[in-house]
Amino acid sequence: MPSYRITLLPGDGIGPEITAVARSLLEAVGPHHGISFDVCEAPVGGAGHDAEGDPLPTETLKRCRDADAVLLAAIGGYEYDNLPQRQRPESGLLRLRAGMDLFANLRPVRILPVLVEASSLKRSLIEAVDLVVVRELTGGIYFGEPRGRITTPAGERGFNTMTYSDQEVDRIAAVGFRLAAERAGRLCSVDKANVLEVSQLWRERVNTMAAAHPDVAVSHMYVDNAAMQLLRNPRQFDVLLTGNLFGDILSDAAAMLSGSIGMLPSASLGSDGPGLFEPIHGSAPDIAGKDLANPLAMVLSAAMMLRVGLGQEEAATDLERAVEQVLLAGFRTADLMAEGCTQLGCKAMGEQLLVALEGVWQA
Ligand code: IPM
Ligand code: MG
Repeated sequence: MPSYRITLLPGDGIGPEITAVARSLLEAVGPHHGISFDVCEAPVGGAGHDAEGDPLPTETLKRCRDADAVLLAAIGGYEYDNLPQRQRPESGLLRLRAGMDLFANLRPVRILPVLVEASSLKRSLIEAVDLVVVRELTGGIYFGEPRGRITTPAGERGFNTMTYSDQEVDRIAAVGFRLAAERAGRLCSVDKANVLEVSQLWRERVNTMAAAHPDVAVSHMYVDNAAMQLLRNPRQFDVLLTGNLFGDILSDAAAMLSGSIGMLPSASLGSDGPGLFEPIHGSAPDIAGKDLANPLAMVLSAAMMLRVGLGQEEAATDLERAVEQVLLAGFRTADLMAEGCTQLGCKAMGEQLLVALEGVWQA
């Protein structure tokens, strides 16, 4: 019986609540497929800061590297907002991504038919949207040097550097091309090559790779236009390939196509070693501890972990079906609440998911 070592990182805010739901579903789905999980939890973000004075404790990084896969909920909270940059929860997450060399972040956006009405866009625009943002995750302006703040005679100045090497572009572009070839065969590379040298290099490298991939139709789009096109006609996209900062922004915009940012999972992958799976939403400190959180993106992240990280396709599909079933049955957390539906808290949603999972097995 395959046994997988899973490192669970509940993090901050609503993180522990949605982690508990995901954990109970993993523990239910595993035995049904002859899989067992050896789960260990470790603190990261604000929780790491509170426990060890470090948003990425050494032991946490080690447990992540030693795992078969890592499942992270969310990090961040108001009480950490005024800490020095290195102590902030966000820098723990960035160091974790860098420390595990997770350069490729995949953020799929698929619209569940049952949630079409939850989107702020018209049904006719978002029906059948099925795209993936491939975001470079360990380079670009998030990590570029020099960076910092200085005081000059003229006043204060803050600065960051957007930088990519040809190898960094090549390795993320290769992920985008591979994925596009497996999907609808369309790759749109997003940059700001009309202004930035770093984007001009990016575009050249993507074009070089395009020549070797006649099976993929490549296009380029400036990031401002891409933001507009996501809202104007999202169905035109299959794979969106982009850098760290642009991908951060575009993936939030793309998330809203699905009605709630509380629905979207993501995978962060390196060239080998364990992947890290996490919902794309944040820690929602305003609703933390109130049993209001939507655990569905976390459950879908666990499904993505099963499929992409562990190769357990059937168990992954079971979790996805359970999510669809609870929605079809009319259960909603507050963020998705609609007329005629039944509003549930995070815990009760977890219980309904377990019921739905049984239903999936009986069907
Ligand atoms: C994300 C988040 C992070 C990012 C923050 C929390 C550092 O917004 O995963 O999209 O900017 O990458
Ligand atoms: Mg973001």
